[in-house]
Amino acid sequence: MNYDRQRLVISDISQITPDVRCFRFVSATPDRRLAGFEAGQYINLFYEINGSTASRPYSIASSPLDAEKGFYDLHIHGGGPFTAAWLFEHAVKGLPITASMPEGDFYYHPLKDSRKVIGISGGMSVTPMHSMVKAVIEETLDIHLTLFCCWDTFREVLYQKEFEEYAARSQKFHVIFALALEEREGFEKGFISRKMIERYTDISGATLFTCGPAAMYDTLREELAPLDIPSERIYQEVPGEAKWGVKGTEQFEPNIRFFLTVKGRNESFKVVSMRSDETVLIAMERAGLRPETRCRSGHCGYCESELLEGKVFTPEGWTKEEDRGCRFNPCCSFPLSDLVVHTNINL
Ligand code: FES
Repeated sequence: MNYDRQRLVISDISQITPDVRCFRFVSATPDRRLAGFEAGQYINLFYEINGSTASRPYSIASSPLDAEKGFYDLHIHGGGPFTAAWLFEHAVKGLPITASMPEGDFYYHPLKDSRKVIGISGGMSVTPMHSMVKAVIEETLDIHLTLFCCWDTFREVLYQKEFEEYAARSQKFHVIFALALEEREGFEKGFISRKMIERYTDISGATLFTCGPAAMYDTLREELAPLDIPSERIYQEVPGEAKWGVKGTEQFEPNIRFFLTVKGRNESFKVVSMRSDETVLIAMERAGLRPETRCRSGHCGYCESELLEGKVFTPEGWTKEEDRGCRFNPCCSFPLSDLVVHTNINL
């Protein structure tokens, strides 16, 4: 038995909005319970798609109590990466799937965090907050949570009715919805700003949980800078996969072909083709290789590899800022030339 992995099976699929589905997973092994988790953590799903291997992290949207009852819910947008499209097309009740154990440190740590918590989410990245909100309502997480959820348009909004019902029955949860691109009654207008937050709550002494796209983190950093909030009081969910088009990539040519020589743990190697507008990790996976991955966002270090020859570009915000010499994370690095890379793969 592999204790890093869980064998799951899809027990139910339901539509939450026109674009988002809830996939419910239970243990595929009757005598093995689901691993417990902290509200805010994610699991990786491992796929075999058309001869390629891939894994994708998804925040668990259900609560820790739900896991004790025997299920995880993942809320997935069909327009996400190709693995999401695959799930929308192929996943049926009874489909077995391998997953990692729950991972990540985006969760409340009672010994160091303030019980006054402010959550700030942008778009679909709200899912870990859904888990935290449920945990507050179920009284397994003893915090006062004020949550700001921002969406571009009303059509995309998730959880509005559910969160408003929770807020109506709990003194410990408040929610504010905002639309960046539309005006609508009951919604704040614009991206979440310091001014908007201060209209509803006092930021001083609070612990902040932020989850959204990289652009939201850039804006928040500037907005909150005058408050000098210590970094240990701000949790930032990993920004998701680096995709061509993020800040910095536009300075390079898309769609150029390079060769990638992948050296494995043993002396063997494999040469594969890659495009300049895909990450080195995606190129490896398309070629059927199985690098070890977790966050796919440059944070966990699982995919860390050695760059023996060539140049890569890692956008700002996708990797730790320490000097790591020729070490790099293929999950968030784009090739600028042919590459020779030493990896953790058993070829
Ligand atoms: S998978 Fe986490 S750093 Fe690459």
